[in-house]
Amino acid sequence: MSLSDQHAAELSPETVVVAAGRPERAHDEPVNPPIVLSSTYFGTGSLGDGDRGYGRYANPTWDPFEDALAKLEGATLPGLLYASGLAAVSSALSLVPAGGVVVMPTHSYAGSLVMATELAEKGFLELRTVDITDTEAVKALISPEHGRKADLLWLESPTNPMLGIADIRALTDAAHAAGAIVVTDNTFSTPLVQQPLSLGSDVVLHSVTKYLAGHSDVVLGALVTSNPELRAALLHHRIIHGGIAGPFEAWLALRGLRTLALRIER
Ligand SMILES: Cc1ncc(COP(=O)(O)O)c(C=O)c1O
Repeated sequence: MSLSDQHAAELSPETVVVAAGRPERAHDEPVNPPIVLSSTYFGTGSLGDGDRGYGRYANPTWDPFEDALAKLEGATLPGLLYASGLAAVSSALSLVPAGGVVVMPTHSYAGSLVMATELAEKGFLELRTVDITDTEAVKALISPEHGRKADLLWLESPTNPMLGIADIRALTDAAHAAGAIVVTDNTFSTPLVQQPLSLGSDVVLHSVTKYLAGHSDVVLGALVTSNPELRAALLHHRIIHGGIAGPFEAWLALRGLRTLALRIER
């Protein structure tokens, strides 16, 4: 069974995790997508015509997971799989213009914080860290009385490991009023508990390594957005920086996703 967008919208998330990303239901067709191991694809010779072309640009094994995650997060565009959660963090931070301002929770996942700190130390961006549970303090850093407004608000809610909770709606409203985009790391909530796009976030990030894949046997990351320009920029970054998912890992992640609802409930 494959899920049309309209059909998926009518299904509960518990059903989507089991049913999304299946091949077309047809006689003798497999119920699971195959693993495609190929670095190169036959094509028209023009990537602009939608050719897959080369294995760093696309792999059909990524598509079912990317579709399923987009449906779960309520996105209108397919998600983007990455080699790890931090590869996804790197791609998301690439949305910041040179010298731009990033506001980040003091208790963000350490790897995300280290990456942003190192970029700041090299002068690529300005980093402002803040207690993300203090909504007014975050707003003050997004739009300070003096100084540059934020370009990117980074949310992680709950944070890992301090479990700080952000008021995503209030903070995304403040960020958008200042002209900033909002990336929310939804790893610890999963889309079954919280859908940041519906609360105004522009991009959702996952360490798929954690709850989505769920079996401690795979390292992967993902980004999801409904914004075509942001998705195009992220896809370009993934192609050029090469943080792509292995096909076997992508397949394992989809298999892990099938039990997400049961594992969360448990
Ligand atoms: C909230 C959060 N974001 C991002 C990451 C990084 O993901 P990965 O370990 O898959 O690179 C982690 C990993 O622990 C995490 O917990």
